[in-house]
Amino acid sequence: MNGLLHRFGYHLARFPVHRAESLIRLIQDHGFRTYVEVGVWKAESSRKVLGKTALEKAWLIDPYTEWDTGGMSQRDIDRMYESVRRYFARRHPQVQLLRKTSQQALEQFENGSVDIVFVDGEHSYAGVKRDIADWWPKVRVGGVLAGDDFETEYEGIIRAICEAFPMDRLHFAPDSFWWVEKGERD
Ligand SMILES: C[S@@+](CC[C@H](N)C(=O)[O-])C[C@H]1O[C@@H](n2cnc3c(N)ncnc32)[C@H](O)[C@@H]1O
Repeated sequence: MNGLLHRFGYHLARFPVHRAESLIRLIQDHGFRTYVEVGVWKAESSRKVLGKTALEKAWLIDPYTEWDTGGMSQRDIDRMYESVRRYFARRHPQVQLLRKTSQQALEQFENGSVDIVFVDGEHSYAGVKRDIADWWPKVRVGGVLAGDDFETEYEGIIRAICEAFPMDRLHFAPDSFWWVEKGERD
């Protein structure tokens, strides 16, 4: 596999496999300094992103209430929140973990103020449609709105994204990752 990729002039390390690697690459390549993640959960992506970028400010937004939690109790969710909070407080003081819904957090962001927003909160058609409509204006010109789960299992997500942006504006990477860059005319 590796040899085959080499033959085509690629090195495996250049391939982003996990969504976080695509986020890291976008942040590094564009020199982004500010980051919003909607939907944090165990902070699997955000730990990687914060560990490998020079972000000056990151807002991680999640209400930490019942979700598609596989039967996890609110007490366990509270513990998870606390462990994520402590992790970032110790290692990445530029992180603000906002225990809010996406909609509640929205008001503290000015339009055109964020370099990159990663929407990964509600996974319904209506939820994704609303998050795109809410957060796209917050992205600055030259910035990026990104998400994942662009896959058949989440038909509603695909529909919401395709209604918001024409296909030729969408970029894709492995792990069902997608993003759109904001231009002067958006
Ligand atoms: C797929 S998980 C996030 C995974 C994380 N982005 C990662 O890549 O490691 C989805 C999260 O969205 C959160 N969520 C659900 N509804 C939300 C809303 N309205 N606003 C913000 N977060 C929400 C859930 O609590 C859950 O933690």
